[in-house]
Amino acid sequence: MSLHQGNDRNTRDDRSATMSSDEIRRLSLNPFYGEADPVSAMNSAPPTHRLPDGPIPPSTAYQLVHDELMLDGNSRLNLATFVTTWMEPQADVLLNECRDKNMIDKDEYPRTAELERRCVMMLADLWHAPDPQSAVGCSTTGSSEACMLAGMALKRRWAKRNADRYPATARPNLVMGINVQVCWEKFCDFWEVEMRQVPMEGDRFHLDPAAAAQLCDENTIGVVAVLGSTFDGSYEPVADLCAVLDDLQERTGLDIPVHVDGASGGMIAPFLDEDLVWDFRLPRVASINTSGHKYGLVYPGVGWALWRTAEALPEELVFRVNYLGGDMPTFALNFSRPGAQVVAQYYTFLRLGRDGYRAVQQTSRDIAMGLARRIDAFGDFRALTKGDELPVFAFTTADGVSNFDVFDVSRRLRERGWLVPAYTFPKNREDLAVLRVVCRNGFSADLAELLIDDLDRLLPELRHQDHPLDRDKAVATAFHH
Ligand SMILES: Cc1ncc(COP(=O)(O)O)c(C=O)c1O
Repeated sequence: MSLHQGNDRNTRDDRSATMSSDEIRRLSLNPFYGEADPVSAMNSAPPTHRLPDGPIPPSTAYQLVHDELMLDGNSRLNLATFVTTWMEPQADVLLNECRDKNMIDKDEYPRTAELERRCVMMLADLWHAPDPQSAVGCSTTGSSEACMLAGMALKRRWAKRNADRYPATARPNLVMGINVQVCWEKFCDFWEVEMRQVPMEGDRFHLDPAAAAQLCDENTIGVVAVLGSTFDGSYEPVADLCAVLDDLQERTGLDIPVHVDGASGGMIAPFLDEDLVWDFRLPRVASINTSGHKYGLVYPGVGWALWRTAEALPEELVFRVNYLGGDMPTFALNFSRPGAQVVAQYYTFLRLGRDGYRAVQQTSRDIAMGLARRIDAFGDFRALTKGDELPVFAFTTADGVSNFDVFDVSRRLRERGWLVPAYTFPKNREDLAVLRVVCRNGFSADLAELLIDDLDRLLPELRHQDHPLDRDKAVATAFHH
């Protein structure tokens, strides 16, 4: 959540210092909102930055909120987000039916708890856990919480192994590529773990296994591999990483577990890249997370964290809540949390099955690859990825293009309603600025065609610019998710 602080200088109340803000608010109300008595709405403009003194009719409150939200973007045109922006009407019905259910109330909502358990078992099976029926896992609010939980388990296991040195002298560290999502930075900061990052190098935009192994020592709680990278959609080489760590163990005795951050790829690779070995088939993979609300195809907030066996999740991190006269183990940062998304996840698993997921994800990949090819064909751009791993691709301006940059393209597309983020890469490729397109279910071939049409229309104008337009560098480089 944004951490809001007091009065935002840009709010309307501040800008309209010459006219009392209440007066402006009063005039801004549509008299029709007063229902039977149009004038009543004009007398009852509630303040927006302190709790109103009294109530207003529900229809008036609805219209006020609804009208303000009209300025939000159109989520279907948002090619920046990985998060689901379309579900079918039956899912909406179930979500509505379950919106009052609290996930933690296992006693009150035992069937919701059972659906969560089934989802965990289905994912354990999908990710080849040694014994899916006894798999350990939980739902979360998203991958960030799942990554925190997985990181906590890694840290606790390391702390127990090193009880003679920790907390007295040893300081734990976690190794990862510099391309990890910001949640890993948060984990390391919040849980006081040193973050050791492998930088990008040349045309390598994600983790290099050998470089990762070099950063490991006796205080390394684990290595994070990302499937696939938020920056460009590429899969990190999980099997190679495990092989290098096997070799490290043989040479030094260090036994370092791997966590796979499959926020997106955890729901792509099992359907489209069945031969790719990245999951619990690799004995070194201790835990995996995914976002149910990304390619799991559910509206935001649901994620999943799974451990290969009960031993990978230290028992003392597990809390127990009442459940039908007994107790049920839980592992979460939150206590109360909506149950509706978990129900929607189970619905989507039932609804699509493996073949359905394969069809949906293949369509997104086909659209991504086709779009990447079409964009390449303009000649103004150079592709960094092709959309053939995650249905996501990144591209930059071609060598010799000096009239405009990726930030100009992003801004001009925004004028047409498209949200295509432009951002610079991290260390050691800060020189490289890219655009990224995330293709999701609901971004149809027709919409992709419209995006190409819009690019085709605006490129001649960009080519005629004398130089890239000035931009606010802080904003341009702030993109991290
Ligand atoms: C690789 C990766 N990990 C973690 C996250 C955080 O996921 P969530 O938004 O579900 O918390 C993201 C989000 O984009 C991601 O791409």
